[in-house]
Amino acid sequence: MKQEMMKIVSQRALAPRIFELTLTGELVKEMGVPGQFIHIRVPRADLLLRRPISINQIDAENKTCTIIYRVEGEGTKEFSVLQAGDLLDVMGPLGNGFDLSQLKAGDTAFIVGGGIGIPPLYELSKQLIAKGVKPIHFLGYASKEVMYYTDEFEALAETRFATDDGSFAQKGHVGHLLTEAVKTITPDAVFACGANGLLKAVEAQFFGQQNVQLSLEARMACGMGACYACVCHVKNDSTGKKSLKVCDEGPIFKAGEVIL
Ligand SMILES: Cc1cc2nc3c(=O)[nH]c(=O)nc-3n(C[C@H](O)[C@H](O)[C@H](O)COP(=O)(O)OP(=O)(O)OC[C@H]3O[C@@H](n4cnc5c(N)ncnc54)[C@H](O)[C@@H]3O)c2cc1C
Ligand code: FES
Repeated sequence: MKQEMMKIVSQRALAPRIFELTLTGELVKEMGVPGQFIHIRVPRADLLLRRPISINQIDAENKTCTIIYRVEGEGTKEFSVLQAGDLLDVMGPLGNGFDLSQLKAGDTAFIVGGGIGIPPLYELSKQLIAKGVKPIHFLGYASKEVMYYTDEFEALAETRFATDDGSFAQKGHVGHLLTEAVKTITPDAVFACGANGLLKAVEAQFFGQQNVQLSLEARMACGMGACYACVCHVKNDSTGKKSLKVCDEGPIFKAGEVIL
């Protein structure tokens, strides 16, 4: 983990309130594992806490990385007005990413994403493909209007879509797509990132299966394991006291490991 003033290479709007930001700096050399995040300082003196955002793409050759974020509050609003050439104070890469070590060429992986949980799955899919694994993407969005990166995912591998309101493809959440898919395909691994409801649906669908990895979100402060702001509770813990920190023991956990 390092800290650096990274330079913005480009920023573009992908959908209403959703932006893609590309950064360059030495810190990219530290990146490699999909599913890790960076902790970004908001360039405004009164906003003290950094904002955690997942790494969407790593381009080691060009020393750039990309993030995709949705404007939620004051911090992300500040990010959205930045331009090429501006600097951002970045700490990272942070967290344990997705573990690809169990997979081998010829295996099939389900990649399940919802809303603003979709970005880190892009780098994951690229790395799985480089290993010879066949990914199938299951992506859910609130509506057609807020869909983004659809062409990018389709260019990598088969992609199935769902929208909550039915304005594009299958109506409802991605859980329905999974129920359909498992009738004909048994994946060797499942990777998911999105709202808690989506993670719960994935956990239920693949209960008992070995390699199911979920990326969690939590409110964070330090981002590096020191403040305990981001804890989640361990499942099947009789003491009820065991907890894990999303920032440094996650954000990726095995299905069944923690209480969602
Ligand atoms: C590991 C991780 C990866 C993430 N990756 C992405 C991503 O790729 N794209 C994306 O759009 N969003 C992502 N988020 C959520 C993102 O961090 C929040 O949307 C963002 O911090 C909101 O900041 P704000 O100032 O705009 O909102 P405000 O509501 O003003 O934020 C106030 C405070 O709450 C914290 N906060 C608010 N919402 C969240 C949240 N959902 N999770 C954690 N902290 C929050 C902020 O960091 C800040 O400290 C991720 C969160 C985590 C934990
Ligand atoms: S945010 Fe401080 S311990 Fe996780």
